[in-house]
Amino acid sequence: MPDRHDLPAGFRWGVSTAAYQIEGAVDEDGRGPSVWDAFCARPGAVKNGDSGRTACDHYHRWPEDIALMRELGLDTYRFSLAWTRVQPTGRGPANPAGLDFYDRLVDGLLEAGITPLPTLFHWDLPQALEDGGGWLHRDTAHRFAAYAALAADRLGDRVPAWITLNEPFVHLVYGYALGIHAPGRALMLDAMPAAHHQLLGHGLAAAELRARGLDVLIANNLTPVRPATDSPADRAAADAYDTLHNRLFTDPLLLGRYPDLTAYGLGPDPDLGGAVRDGDLTLIHAPGLDGLGVNYYNPTRIAAPTDPGLPFAEAPIEGVPRTHFGWPVVPEGLPELLHTLQARYGTALPPITITENGCSTDAALDDAFRIDYLTAHLDALARATTAGIDVRGYCAWSLLDNFEWAEGYSQRFGLVHVDFATQQRTPRASFAWYRDLIAAHRAGNQA
Ligand code: BGC
Repeated sequence: MPDRHDLPAGFRWGVSTAAYQIEGAVDEDGRGPSVWDAFCARPGAVKNGDSGRTACDHYHRWPEDIALMRELGLDTYRFSLAWTRVQPTGRGPANPAGLDFYDRLVDGLLEAGITPLPTLFHWDLPQALEDGGGWLHRDTAHRFAAYAALAADRLGDRVPAWITLNEPFVHLVYGYALGIHAPGRALMLDAMPAAHHQLLGHGLAAAELRARGLDVLIANNLTPVRPATDSPADRAAADAYDTLHNRLFTDPLLLGRYPDLTAYGLGPDPDLGGAVRDGDLTLIHAPGLDGLGVNYYNPTRIAAPTDPGLPFAEAPIEGVPRTHFGWPVVPEGLPELLHTLQARYGTALPPITITENGCSTDAALDDAFRIDYLTAHLDALARATTAGIDVRGYCAWSLLDNFEWAEGYSQRFGLVHVDFATQQRTPRASFAWYRDLIAAHRAGNQA
């Protein structure tokens, strides 16, 4: 086992999960319904009619899951809090029983020598807030900050760093523009206020966390964008897509301004559907970020549009392996992305943590494909750190096979196989591989 001496000493190893994807127990201890409970109940919304009702039953089996993480020798566990456990309707006082669960989880992690890294919002908005407009409605940003304060008041004495949002881009596009994720709204460009209100929610929550002396991160889904050809039309289309996917949710945080979406026909107007008010960009930018979480899966190839609706069209990436999901495997896209971030933001770029990276495979326990995928991405990551990019840690997606959103249980991302009929956990080959890699890196640094 190579000791990965090409990654820095003190580099932190982790895994990531999300509440709705693993917890189950949707009706227990006062948890309120979220948009995902409602979305899963819609006929045809999720493959095979699956839902997160039981998922990995992590709500009851968390001690077993922490034991697996202890065996891996993790430094960090990135998980998310279900907002509706803390506030069943997204407003008002905390539900103590909901917070008790995360309290026990945090103590269990600390006892196992693992630093908890919670995400406050991984797409499971309280349905009661969605009924009032969800992220299209400005008040949701204020509600989010109030929830962040309640969570931090309870856990902040033991949890030093917090991630506000997971992948606001994916939530905007899948949830509000295309309607293929909860809350299932297909508003296309009229969804833009949901971009601004998520960022405003981040800024307001970040201020609450900072006021309590806590570190703040966000986890953005980022992708290197490659024009399909060198033609001016393909390059312009790639720029448009890059602006929407990568810059919309990172420029305001790091530079204090939005990119000009209207230049690409991505309006509807410079104020994102009239959502941006005076002072908002300061609220978003001023709290600052202690780290940028990067979720990387693959690059995106973009060509000039074929229909007039959008200023770009996605083109397939040819000649590379594909995951079980059909996603292209392009490890060198990761350093490409990190170098772009460095060039784009310079000294405004905070230290990076890879908050998600991984692949789905079939159900087999011998997942050589996953080991190859992760090895190649860590090789590529090490080339970026060796070239001077400040990356502090890496969280594999995911610890367990879990509820993969609109794909239900059909895509398995786990280092650990889960039999969803019995809830039996069985570590895959990649589990032992990751455990040994972490141990070797640690030992190499102590030598
Ligand atoms: C999300 C995860 C998801 C993973 C694989 C990311 O977009 O944050 O929740 O399971 O990708 O699709």
